[in-house]
Amino acid sequence: MKVCVIGTGYVGLVTGVCLAEIGNNVFCVDKDSNKIELLKTGKVPIYEEGLEELIKKNIKSGHLIFHSDTSFAIKESDIIFICVGTPPLPSGKPNLSAIDEVAKLIGQSINGYKIISNKSTVPIGTAKRIKKIIKENQNDNKNDYEFDIISNPEFLKEGEAVADAFFPERIVIGSESEKAIEIMKELYKPIINQDFDYAVNNAHKRDKVPVLITDSTSSELIKYASNAFLATKISFVNEIANICERVGANILDVTYGMGLDSRIGSRFIKAGIGWGGSCFPKDVRALSYTAEEYGSPANILNAVIQVNNHQRFKVVQKAVNMLGIIDDKVIGILGLAFKPNTNDTREAPSVAIINKFLELGAEVRVYDPVVKDYPENMDKGAIMTASPYEAVEGANLMVLVTEWDEFYNLDFKKIKNLMANFNIIDGRNIFDKKKLQELGFNYTGIGY
Ligand code: UGA
Repeated sequence: MKVCVIGTGYVGLVTGVCLAEIGNNVFCVDKDSNKIELLKTGKVPIYEEGLEELIKKNIKSGHLIFHSDTSFAIKESDIIFICVGTPPLPSGKPNLSAIDEVAKLIGQSINGYKIISNKSTVPIGTAKRIKKIIKENQNDNKNDYEFDIISNPEFLKEGEAVADAFFPERIVIGSESEKAIEIMKELYKPIINQDFDYAVNNAHKRDKVPVLITDSTSSELIKYASNAFLATKISFVNEIANICERVGANILDVTYGMGLDSRIGSRFIKAGIGWGGSCFPKDVRALSYTAEEYGSPANILNAVIQVNNHQRFKVVQKAVNMLGIIDDKVIGILGLAFKPNTNDTREAPSVAIINKFLELGAEVRVYDPVVKDYPENMDKGAIMTASPYEAVEGANLMVLVTEWDEFYNLDFKKIKNLMANFNIIDGRNIFDKKKLQELGFNYTGIGY
């Protein structure tokens, strides 16, 4: 099929390349023409396993074309995916200006029947809003062309985005149009039947992918409710971890024991310094905002946000317990990305923690295997280093913030020779507490 993907962020790029790989002809467009020029050469501005090679392969085969003329790409395509950002406004309400702009352009460019499939995470009711804007902007055309709107939320995880696109746990199609639903099912057929030939990593291949057909409002809510529930699981276990610390229990054993109950499950119950990234913080706040707007206060969601905001500063409290006055202390931080296998630092707990240590007068030395530039909101007073060992040189305290693979096998004897004092805060509970204590470290995890 002829497909146009508007927006070349995580969702747009991964969607575009996945649809190209399964045999469609895909235009990926973005209003940032510099980004498009870069992508044309096969260079990908985000770090995502397998993505760059797949993009290069599909550019070469001609299935994937990067283009900066969105209107042209819309005219050439039968299905248009909206994959633009919906960043939060200060109130928590998502900013829909990029969605509105795209809808307007679709209205102005439409030249025949099209399906508009929205993958951006949007407030409940946005499918209807897009429809209205497209209709209003068709007024200049001689004909009013028929079109259908689909809500088709994306559930990919950063760091595993390519695998999630090829081997999803479900596909949700929300629409009021039978015709559009059938075309979308046809588009996704190779994914639904898992019968495509994808050479990179088939380890996650499924027998079949369930498809849920629903109305657009329910589909929009499925996305928010899923993210909000996952964030709730994490805030819940973080609260339990804090109770563990008070009563002397071990969160690793507690969550293991909980997870053995299949009704609870063992995933997304890892205690730590809380969730971040471009999705959970924005989406939980947006759902809470919608709930308030519609007179249904989101007491649980508000508590989930509050627990999470507090959790990252547990590290600072622990540091004060270990070091006393923070002024002039040297603190080595391992990890900047909000989670491993991504270079994304949006709403990363690392930034808040580092800024707080700097505010309290510490010298902060930072290492991340992938993030080499200062994240946008991070105080430039932090010193970026080239290895975990350089980060802890002369340090009074080491703090593990992101559980990158390379941190699991650190040489702690070497670290002991480098540090001034042997304090470790393990914000993700990845180290062996007993072993480190035997080596003479003063270790504390989260609820462990
Ligand atoms: C999340 C969802 O998992 C995806 O399904 C969804 O499509 C995506 O948001 C989105 O809306 O676009 P993502 O933000 O990439 O994906 O990251 P996750 O792997 O879900 O992790 C989110 C945060 O939770 C991270 O900060 C991570 O460190 C934290 N986390 C996760 C924990 O603290 N404990 C856990 O057990 C799991």
